[in-house]
Amino acid sequence: VTGVAAEVQALVAAAGPHTPALLARLEERLVEIAGFTPALAQAAVATIRAGGKRLRPLLVLIAADLDGDGPAADGALRAATAVELIHSATLVHDDVLDGAALRRGQPTVVATGGRRMATATGDLLFARAFAEITLNEDPEQVRVLSRASTALARGELMQREDAWDAGVTVARYLERCELKTGRLFEAACELGALQSNGPRAKLAAFGLRIGLAFQLLDDVLDVEQPAERTGKTRGADLLDGTVTLPLILARERDQELAATPLREIADPAAAARFCERIEATGALEPVRARAHALVDDAKTILSGLPSRQAAALERVADGVVERRA
Ligand code: IPE
Ligand code: IPE
Ligand code: MG
Ligand code: MG
Repeated sequence: VTGVAAEVQALVAAAGPHTPALLARLEERLVEIAGFTPALAQAAVATIRAGGKRLRPLLVLIAADLDGDGPAADGALRAATAVELIHSATLVHDDVLDGAALRRGQPTVVATGGRRMATATGDLLFARAFAEITLNEDPEQVRVLSRASTALARGELMQREDAWDAGVTVARYLERCELKTGRLFEAACELGALQSNGPRAKLAAFGLRIGLAFQLLDDVLDVEQPAERTGKTRGADLLDGTVTLPLILARERDQELAATPLREIADPAAAARFCERIEATGALEPVRARAHALVDDAKTILSGLPSRQAAALERVADGVVERRA
């Protein structure tokens, strides 16, 4: 996980000298707001404390084009906190839906506390996110966050609907990725823009594209990387029946692989073996290429933005496709 920290540090450095202090305030606020009722919120706070790349709040801060960490940054920081709380809520619920054992290198809330506890913890985090964003007293920011949350839920529902269906189309896969991941990245950029009266449409279009690329990469890493790197079980998507682009393309390339019923992949060892077979078809390359193309497209949108801001966003966009966790 040290490698991950280094990757993220490079992005933070690109976001300007005031950013580390802002991110430290973000951490404090996240714990404060998630743990406002400590006895009841242990799992929520543990989820926050387990870390994470904090990529979405970083995007809010960069999109807000701040020039310091003083009180003028308070609104952007609240929006950043709200976005990370929505993300954390989604992860806790996602692990229930996916039956996932590991998250951020630790047992998931559903694994330790059970389904009911995880459902309630995710609900708490969602509720706290909306409490935080209302403090900015801008109904448009609440609207942006609620639209993204709705998209997320629709994406997750779509994923359950399509579970175990190896015939799912690429178009439908991409729509799912846009809903469950792209839209929150888009919202992060929009919130920053709203906070600073920046070019909202431009930043939104940028966020949506890198968010989609982010999910494509997540699906590559699910096949490729061990838990020591990602903090998640390798082949988790296979184990919960989620058909991703690497699998779709691998099945086109390898008839034997295509003939294996997905439900036969029943435990982590079998999933890891199947991941090796997907990798061996070379199917990860076109998925990476697609993510790179999205990022290149996203970067073209940045022209006309202040140069320091554009450089920081470009760095994050590259980080999305270069990451290994
Ligand atoms: C994981 O997001 C969920 C996806 C949308 C793929 P991250 O990879 O940003 O998770 P953390 O916050 O760094 O743990
Ligand atoms: C991301 O999809 C879903 C969310 C928006 C939380 P995944 O199910 O692939 O995310 P991970 O891999 O569990 O983080
Ligand atoms: Mg998952
Ligand atoms: Mg995943």
